[in-house]
Amino acid sequence: MRERLTVLGIEEMDGIHRQELEMLDALLEAIDNETDETRVTLKFEALLEDMRRHFEYEESLMRGKGFGMYNIHKSDHDKMLSEVRYLLGEWRSRRDRARIKEYFEYEFAFWLPQHIAAMDTVLAEFLRGL
Ligand SMILES: [Fe+2]
Ligand SMILES: [Fe+2]
Repeated sequence: MRERLTVLGIEEMDGIHRQELEMLDALLEAIDNETDETRVTLKFEALLEDMRRHFEYEESLMRGKGFGMYNIHKSDHDKMLSEVRYLLGEWRSRRDRARIKEYFEYEFAFWLPQHIAAMDTVLAEFLRGL
């Protein structure tokens, strides 16, 4: 059972998180039901691009505001980006639906709420306190 996303009270960040969850659901739906593998790839690429923009947005906020926990927060972003990039390469060569389904359902779908509850919550508190 997937955890609910923590609402941070900063509209731009909350909107980005809601959108990312929608894109994750769209990918999972495509993995289950889409017969055309190119369409699965498109949803996969769209999620990766959304993650890249999501993380870049938060990192630019942190840099701009002199947030002290920049490195630890960014390294959590980087770790997830490199995992998902690697998995996309693997998907392109092996087309193993069960593999990507398991990853997004059991790794990414847990990582996102946990990252928001831990890292993003601290960032939002910092931004609200400025
Ligand atoms: Fe975030
Ligand atoms: Fe973050």
